[in-house]
Amino acid sequence: MFHISNGNPYESEQECMLIGLIDQPEKFSGGLQQLDDAFKGNLTKLVKTGDISAKYKSVSVIHSLGNTPIKRFIFIGLGRSKELTDERLREAVGKASKKIKDLRTGSFSVVLDTFIAGKISAEKAAWTLSEAFIMASYEFPGYKKSNEPDIIINKITVFTNQDKKTIESAVETGWIFGTGVNNARTLVNTPSNLLRPSSMAAYAAEMADEYGIEIELLEKEEIEKLGMGAFLAVNQGSGEPPYMIVLKYQGKEEWADVLALVGKGITFDTGGYSIKPKDGIVGMKTDMGGAAAVLGAMEVIARLRPDRNVVAVIPATDNMINEKAFKPDDVITSMNGKTIEVLNTDAEGRLVLADAITYAKMHGADRLVDVATLTGGVIVALGLDKTGAITNNDDFYNQVKEASKKTGEFIWRLPYTENDRERVRSSKIADLNNSPGREGHAIMGGAFIGEFVENTPWVHLDIAGTATTDKEYELGPSGATGVMVRTLAMLAVGQKPW
Ligand code: BES
Ligand code: ZN
Ligand code: ZN
Repeated sequence: MFHISNGNPYESEQECMLIGLIDQPEKFSGGLQQLDDAFKGNLTKLVKTGDISAKYKSVSVIHSLGNTPIKRFIFIGLGRSKELTDERLREAVGKASKKIKDLRTGSFSVVLDTFIAGKISAEKAAWTLSEAFIMASYEFPGYKKSNEPDIIINKITVFTNQDKKTIESAVETGWIFGTGVNNARTLVNTPSNLLRPSSMAAYAAEMADEYGIEIELLEKEEIEKLGMGAFLAVNQGSGEPPYMIVLKYQGKEEWADVLALVGKGITFDTGGYSIKPKDGIVGMKTDMGGAAAVLGAMEVIARLRPDRNVVAVIPATDNMINEKAFKPDDVITSMNGKTIEVLNTDAEGRLVLADAITYAKMHGADRLVDVATLTGGVIVALGLDKTGAITNNDDFYNQVKEASKKTGEFIWRLPYTENDRERVRSSKIADLNNSPGREGHAIMGGAFIGEFVENTPWVHLDIAGTATTDKEYELGPSGATGVMVRTLAMLAVGQKPW
């Protein structure tokens, strides 16, 4: 698929070549001078007329009309080198990648060294280019009868003057990150009749097999034996059996110092007897976005094999209604013995996560991150482009925040105080109640989960607003975003030099 070349890019035969332009050039210099010469100075003219521009995110396609062995050039504006950041580069490349996809070519090439500027090193550029390309060209296949053949890009040539091995590994890493995101997106986009709890379990098993990591799949009987009463209550109204999916990646000699990733895996959320209104129920196939983020991150981790230990725990079930379904007013007992008064069956995510957190701790978790499409409240508080966070530990939160800065997946911390802890403990008849009211309810969701985390360093990520999008954007189409796959993977894989 990839080919890294130290050759002269402008002398090779290519269908399409991507070139970054930075700091509006007066005229072309260096390698681009050679190109301009081949065009008899016409590229410089096009720069002067603004047809080719270094303006941020400006994309221009130029046909060589036989002037060079390269059929077409795509120039992507990167803005000012001083202002160039990972995230700006990622978005610009994403935009250019969509153009490449529209051109429906079977191969393309990129002049890597034209993307190295400001704070962006060669390796960072290589990583970002491949990550952004694969994310931006994602498409959910869907289920339409279509006779248009898919054009699959099967060759990408990266021209560079840098060390081939180093660039190759950075390109590969970006590709792995992007693939993790896309696979998570596909899980989220798949409707719940086709992605059942058992399908998620099978998906995880296949992944474990492919990348050689350990898997433990708990079926209903074992879940009952372990006393996961909160998880089981949510599954009670369903014809689909629940699964507790556990994946273990061991990168250290000893199973100690374990990072746990816990993802909400509700394959469909009707709300239960606290049923959702007809407009609120559409889209609830995406209520396993947290699980998908964890699965995507585990895939990246299993492929990159860092020297860390990571356990993933995913409670998978739908939240349905039949005569056996749990009801408001029910009191249930979670695996750690705490009793819960159910005031709202639509606040089911925190119930399944409660037992998943307890189980992650049984697997030796020293640090916990849970990811969940947990509350509409986070959308009210932060909008559709920000993931809400809650934590009990500043240091661990800072690590997650650092990872999120690197990936450009914005997170924002919500306050979590003693008052919040009191509110989730305010039931008259049980230890906890699952829905203390509308006020600050994104915080309440996190605070409820916090009761099961206890003292382990923990970050809760509410992705109800960010797991999907209505609008196409630079790094992908509308639908599932695969948010947090990269941040979780970055957190686990750790600091890279670039
Ligand atoms: N799955 C929903 C949250 C959600 C809402 C996700 C919109 C994506 C988009 C969750 O289970 C839920 O229904 N939460 C309730 C909690 C409330 C009853 C305390 C909510 O946010 O309204
Ligand atoms: Zn719900
Ligand atoms: Zn839900």
